[in-house]
Amino acid sequence: MSSFSRTGLWGAADAYERYMGRWSRGVAPLFLDWLGAPPGRAWADIGCGTGELSLGIARRCAPGRLVGIDPSRAFLDRAASRVPGAEFREGDAALLDLPDAGFDYAVSGLVLNFLPDKAAGLAEMARVVRPGGTVALYVWDYAGHMQIMRRFFDAARLVDPASSAYDDGINAPICRPEPLREAFRAAGLAAPETTALDIPAAFAGFDDYWEPFLGGTGSAPKYCASLDESTRDRIRDMLRERLPTGPDGEILLAVRAWGVRGTVPG
Ligand SMILES: C[S@@+](CC[C@H](N)C(=O)[O-])C[C@H]1O[C@@H](n2cnc3c(N)ncnc32)[C@H](O)[C@@H]1O
Repeated sequence: MSSFSRTGLWGAADAYERYMGRWSRGVAPLFLDWLGAPPGRAWADIGCGTGELSLGIARRCAPGRLVGIDPSRAFLDRAASRVPGAEFREGDAALLDLPDAGFDYAVSGLVLNFLPDKAAGLAEMARVVRPGGTVALYVWDYAGHMQIMRRFFDAARLVDPASSAYDDGINAPICRPEPLREAFRAAGLAAPETTALDIPAAFAGFDDYWEPFLGGTGSAPKYCASLDESTRDRIRDMLRERLPTGPDGEILLAVRAWGVRGTVPG
């Protein structure tokens, strides 16, 4: 399972939930509202993970069929328990075990930048969608207003310049509007469009923000796990000083994903 062998990047479903699932959950409905799909359509959710986007599809779009694909057995088991009626299968975005033109929508939430061969992943999404159907996805705005990670890496860089090796704001240039539209054009998708999907992220206090970085799941937590205790503590203290904190200790950050959609030509 190619890219998934970036061992343990996605680790445990619970750690993912605390670090990212709770924010991913807020973005999926905005994305689906933007798509405005009619009921009864066939959906493929590529890189479905623990099922945030699949759950949104099941609740908001009354799908006729919903298939989720992910390389992680643990994530698929979690997704299946949350979205009864959907099919969840092990697979790789670069080589989908799905028929040509079998779906109205192929979608993906927060996955594209993790694929080693993004063009192959998009080509596969386009292949499994019927002419006139939609390929659409979203990714975090790592370089801009995904402030949970942006704030972390901006502070980490001041303590440890080597942190940039893990910074998706640097490593994932695809996660900006023009590169996303260009990747869709290159995959042969017509009329690619992008939109900003914005939600607020409220943390009850510093520990609520910081603790998920210690869970080992995702790029920044992986980086944290690679550090000695004193470097990690210096980054934590730097962040504590710099994060915008209200009088009651609450920390309020912006969270942006970029959505992109295109049509499979007839
Ligand atoms: C950030 S998670 C997003 C999960 C879910 N879509 C969501 O929005 O919460 C990224 C997902 O991509 C999956 N993934 C990684 N490499 C993949 C590949 N080659 N093919 C399909 N999925 C992959 C991971 O297993 C993980 O579930």
